[in-house]
Amino acid sequence: MAVIRFGVSVESNLLERFDEVWKERGFVNRSEAFRNLIRSFIAERELEERGEVVGSLVILYSYGTSGVDYRLNEVEHAYWQKIISSMHVHLDEHNCMEVIAIRGEGGEIRKIADALIGCKGVKQGKLVMTPLRME
Ligand code: NI
Repeated sequence: MAVIRFGVSVESNLLERFDEVWKERGFVNRSEAFRNLIRSFIAERELEERGEVVGSLVILYSYGTSGVDYRLNEVEHAYWQKIISSMHVHLDEHNCMEVIAIRGEGGEIRKIADALIGCKGVKQGKLVMTPLRME
Protein backbone atom coordinates (compact mmCIF):
# COMPACT_ATOMS: atom_id res chain seq x y z
CA MET A 1 0.00 0.00 0.00
CA ALA A 2 1.33 3.42 -0.94
CA VAL A 3 2.27 5.72 1.91
CA ILE A 4 1.30 9.32 1.36
CA ARG A 5 2.93 12.30 3.01
CA PHE A 6 0.80 15.37 3.62
CA GLY A 7 1.09 18.68 5.44
CA VAL A 8 -1.04 19.77 8.38
CA SER A 9 -1.29 23.33 9.65
CA VAL A 10 -1.40 23.54 13.42
CA GLU A 11 -0.67 26.13 16.11
CA SER A 12 2.88 25.76 17.48
CA ASN A 13 1.80 25.38 21.12
CA LEU A 14 -0.69 22.66 20.18
CA LEU A 15 2.00 20.75 18.28
CA GLU A 16 4.48 21.13 21.17
CA ARG A 17 1.95 19.66 23.57
CA PHE A 18 1.09 16.87 21.10
CA ASP A 19 4.80 15.97 20.86
CA GLU A 20 5.07 15.84 24.65
CA VAL A 21 2.02 13.58 24.94
CA TRP A 22 2.97 11.03 22.25
CA LYS A 23 6.48 10.77 23.73
CA GLU A 24 5.04 10.22 27.22
CA ARG A 25 2.73 7.56 25.82
CA GLY A 26 5.59 5.71 24.14
CA PHE A 27 4.88 6.20 20.44
CA VAL A 28 8.00 5.87 18.26
CA ASN A 29 7.44 9.09 16.33
CA ARG A 30 4.91 11.78 15.49
CA SER A 31 3.65 9.93 12.38
CA GLU A 32 2.86 6.79 14.39
CA ALA A 33 0.98 8.86 16.98
CA PHE A 34 -0.94 10.63 14.24
CA ARG A 35 -1.85 7.33 12.50
CA ASN A 36 -3.23 6.12 15.83
CA LEU A 37 -5.40 9.24 16.06
CA ILE A 38 -6.71 8.72 12.53
CA ARG A 39 -7.60 5.07 13.27
CA SER A 40 -9.47 6.05 16.45
CA PHE A 41 -11.31 8.78 14.57
CA ILE A 42 -12.43 6.31 11.88
CA ALA A 43 -13.29 3.55 14.41
CA GLU A 44 -15.53 5.97 16.31
CA ARG A 45 -17.39 6.83 13.11
CA GLU A 46 -17.83 3.16 12.20
CA LEU A 47 -19.28 2.48 15.64
CA GLU A 48 -21.78 5.28 15.07
CA GLU A 49 -22.96 3.51 11.92
CA ARG A 50 -23.36 0.10 13.58
CA GLY A 51 -26.89 0.23 14.93
CA GLU A 52 -27.79 0.17 18.60
CA VAL A 53 -25.01 1.06 21.01
CA VAL A 54 -24.68 2.41 24.53
CA GLY A 55 -22.82 5.60 25.24
CA SER A 56 -21.51 7.13 28.41
CA LEU A 57 -21.01 10.84 28.32
CA VAL A 58 -18.95 12.65 30.94
CA ILE A 59 -19.32 16.42 31.13
CA LEU A 60 -17.72 18.99 33.43
CA TYR A 61 -19.27 22.37 34.14
CA SER A 62 -19.45 25.13 36.70
CA TYR A 63 -22.59 25.07 38.79
CA GLY A 64 -24.72 28.19 38.68
CA THR A 65 -22.86 30.02 35.93
CA SER A 66 -24.81 31.33 32.96
CA GLY A 67 -27.75 28.99 33.48
CA VAL A 68 -25.88 25.94 32.23
CA ASP A 69 -27.82 23.66 34.61
CA TYR A 70 -31.09 24.79 33.07
CA ARG A 71 -29.89 24.26 29.51
CA LEU A 72 -28.52 20.79 30.27
CA ASN A 73 -31.79 19.87 31.93
CA GLU A 74 -33.74 21.02 28.89
CA VAL A 75 -31.67 18.86 26.52
CA GLU A 76 -31.83 15.86 28.87
CA HIS A 77 -35.62 16.09 29.09
CA ALA A 78 -35.93 16.49 25.32
CA TYR A 79 -34.18 13.10 24.95
CA TRP A 80 -35.68 11.37 28.01
CA GLN A 81 -36.47 8.22 26.01
CA LYS A 82 -32.79 7.73 25.09
CA ILE A 83 -31.10 8.87 28.30
CA ILE A 84 -31.41 5.86 30.58
CA SER A 85 -29.54 7.17 33.62
CA SER A 86 -27.45 10.05 34.85
CA MET A 87 -25.26 10.68 37.86
CA HIS A 88 -24.38 14.09 39.23
CA VAL A 89 -21.19 14.58 41.26
CA HIS A 90 -20.37 17.85 43.09
CA LEU A 91 -16.60 18.04 42.54
CA ASP A 92 -16.09 21.08 44.78
CA GLU A 93 -17.93 24.33 45.70
CA HIS A 94 -18.36 25.32 42.04
CA ASN A 95 -17.67 22.42 39.72
CA CYS A 96 -19.92 19.55 38.76
CA MET A 97 -19.45 16.36 36.80
CA GLU A 98 -22.27 14.54 35.13
CA VAL A 99 -22.10 11.00 33.79
CA ILE A 100 -24.96 10.31 31.40
CA ALA A 101 -25.84 6.89 29.98
CA ILE A 102 -27.51 6.97 26.55
CA ARG A 103 -28.89 4.07 24.55
CA GLY A 104 -29.77 4.18 20.87
CA GLU A 105 -28.35 4.34 17.35
CA GLY A 106 -24.74 5.55 17.31
CA GLY A 107 -25.44 8.63 15.23
CA GLU A 108 -28.32 9.57 17.49
CA ILE A 109 -26.17 9.19 20.62
CA ARG A 110 -23.51 11.37 19.02
CA LYS A 111 -26.15 14.02 18.29
CA ILE A 112 -27.44 14.03 21.90
CA ALA A 113 -23.87 14.13 23.27
CA ASP A 114 -22.95 17.04 20.99
CA ALA A 115 -26.09 18.94 22.08
CA LEU A 116 -25.05 18.53 25.75
CA ILE A 117 -21.34 19.24 25.19
CA GLY A 118 -22.33 22.28 23.12
CA CYS A 119 -24.38 23.85 25.94
CA LYS A 120 -22.89 27.22 26.89
CA GLY A 121 -20.99 26.77 30.16
CA VAL A 122 -19.89 23.17 29.59
CA LYS A 123 -16.10 23.10 29.97
CA GLN A 124 -15.35 19.58 28.83
CA GLY A 125 -17.18 16.60 27.43
CA LYS A 126 -16.18 13.13 26.37
CA LEU A 127 -18.37 10.42 24.86
CA VAL A 128 -17.43 6.73 24.90
CA MET A 129 -19.58 4.32 22.86
CA THR A 130 -19.74 0.55 23.21
CA PRO A 131 -21.61 -1.90 20.96
CA LEU A 132 -24.50 -3.74 22.65
CA ARG A 133 -23.75 -7.00 20.87
CA MET A 134 -20.30 -8.22 21.88
CA GLU A 135 -18.52 -10.35 19.31
NI1 NI B 1 -23.03 19.81 41.48
